[in-house]
Amino acid sequence: MQVAADSRWWRFAFAAFVLMLNSSCGGPELMESTSATVSAERRDLHSYSNPDEIRVRHAALDLDVRFAEKKLEGSVLLDIERISTDAEQLVLDTRALTIEGVETSRVDGVFDETSFELGESDPVLGAPLRISVPPETTRVRVHYATDPGASGLQWLDPPQTAGKKQPFLYSQSQAIHARSWIPLQDTPGVRVTYTATVRTPKDLVAVMSAQMDPKTAQARTGVYEFEMPQAIPAYLIALAVGDLQFQAMSERTGVYAEPPVVAEAAREFEDTEKMMQAVEKLYGPYRWGRYDLLVLPPSFPFGGMENPRLTFATPTILAGDKSLVSLVAHELAHSWSGNLVTNATWRDFWLNEGFTVYLENRIQEEVFGPERSLMETVLEVQSLSQEMADLDPKDQILHVDLAGRDPDAGFTQVPYVKGMLFLTALEQAAGRPAFDSFLRGYFDHFAFQSITTADFVAYLDEHLLQANPGVAGQVPVEEWINEPELPESSPVFVSQTFGQVDESARQWLSGEIPAGQLPTKGWTTQHWLHFLRALPEELSVQQMRSLDQAFGLTGTGNSEIVSQWLLMAVRNGYEPAYPRLEQFLTSVGRRKFLRPLYSELVKTEQGRQRAEAIYAKARSLYHPIAADSIDEIVMGE
Ligand code: BES
Ligand code: ZN
Repeated sequence: MQVAADSRWWRFAFAAFVLMLNSSCGGPELMESTSATVSAERRDLHSYSNPDEIRVRHAALDLDVRFAEKKLEGSVLLDIERISTDAEQLVLDTRALTIEGVETSRVDGVFDETSFELGESDPVLGAPLRISVPPETTRVRVHYATDPGASGLQWLDPPQTAGKKQPFLYSQSQAIHARSWIPLQDTPGVRVTYTATVRTPKDLVAVMSAQMDPKTAQARTGVYEFEMPQAIPAYLIALAVGDLQFQAMSERTGVYAEPPVVAEAAREFEDTEKMMQAVEKLYGPYRWGRYDLLVLPPSFPFGGMENPRLTFATPTILAGDKSLVSLVAHELAHSWSGNLVTNATWRDFWLNEGFTVYLENRIQEEVFGPERSLMETVLEVQSLSQEMADLDPKDQILHVDLAGRDPDAGFTQVPYVKGMLFLTALEQAAGRPAFDSFLRGYFDHFAFQSITTADFVAYLDEHLLQANPGVAGQVPVEEWINEPELPESSPVFVSQTFGQVDESARQWLSGEIPAGQLPTKGWTTQHWLHFLRALPEELSVQQMRSLDQAFGLTGTGNSEIVSQWLLMAVRNGYEPAYPRLEQFLTSVGRRKFLRPLYSELVKTEQGRQRAEAIYAKARSLYHPIAADSIDEIVMGE
């Protein structure tokens, strides 16, 4: 009976917690329940828009891609729905846009100019565009042009591409950069369908996160049409233009890339169809039609971006041996966690990323076996612990407070790996079959909706915890979501394979076995990463040289291994790797690699000078998002 009493007490505390998550900021608001009332936890602090008064339902883009001026110019036609009858204005998000004119129309389709006002620009949020909408208005058209420095676009000159002959353009809208190339309600709480007409120079191809015919990639007409029939948040609207070729991998998967890369990419990603079948078996059908990948030039600041139907990916995962394709598993998994069920605000980002890392690990386990998946999980948890050690406690919280900050501040390992650990804790307590069916139900229940942390917690309570009081007793839900650090009961992962790698590291360090005689035959990227990370921070130049001579680490083309190795080279003043360091930093723009390397460099005076010299050459190659974070490190801004 003790257990029952405990669980009653727990249920009371839990109900209080759900209430707290759901509470409104203004007391009286609690009483009203008009649709214009938005509970505090659903309010998006990173958007000026007013979807609780007027909501955009569909966007029709019509854009010219002007490489010479580095700008997009054209219009967006928005279908709106009036939620509150007395609303007089539609408020859109913009950043550095030139607004050329705004028109509105009623059902009759006749457009009239309307008045608008572009508010003051905030460094994080951009500027609100306030548009007067007369009563019967159903559509609003905004004519606009983007700025050459638009934060959500990168315009590459031919030398920055793989083919070196044609320019390239790509967008990166997450978290709040869609507003720098489309005036819209840029909040993940608002979902829109969209169509687009995109005009490009004749010899280039445009692709978007939408339906398109793979054959048009070969047609090169200079006019491309797209349709996204499912409602998605603004941060998933994406565009790329370049000298692109398509290669099919299965009936519904394929790769777009520049000609020198496309065959290699199709080979590297050939298991994508298997991955899709693995997730479908667990969590229900893939609901987006095709799943294609676009391999971007190396300046892409992220590893991958889950743009629906068309994942954007860095070429740095083309290792030649499929060892870095967990990134494909991750972006594919977002087709359920993130794109189907979406975080309502950037505070709820862990709902996107934590679930996705959990799914990613499950896919890896299905397709490549439990040991590979386990090694990858151990590496993830290690990165989390390392980063957490230096993180402010408030940023160690899953339901992180981002008030007054750029949502990019929440881009740490916490939503990713702590989120995954939380779900793993639930899985272990409930048992896999029960947790799998819970998750499948969750994706069905919230499909095509944007939800908050409180929505998840309430659903969890109703569909898992109530039926399994034991789970509630074992997993401290409140602590997982609202407290810094990891709960004491957090799952622990041990890889036997890594145990053997640790033993090799020990034997080499103690001088028992020279590097060349270690049992490294058959080691994968994951073994190497663990081996290098298991070594002490300080190594002598002699030790570095012996590793390099035995394993050719400076010369490896594997981006994960070389970046780890270069970090060690900077730390230990291993000069033979410096030319490679410079070459790497001036050719790769992936922020995950750049940040640690520049941070390590600036720790010494000599290193700082080297960092400044390299950055002077490299900065113009980096995406604005990456350049911003390296500015902070190198110039202390
Ligand atoms: N959605 C993210 C990328 C992102 C998040 C961009 C927030 C901008 C703001 C994507 O799914 C992601 O997590 N990418 C990771 C790779 C992944 C394997 C962990 C990355 O780019 O490092
Ligand atoms: Zn992700």
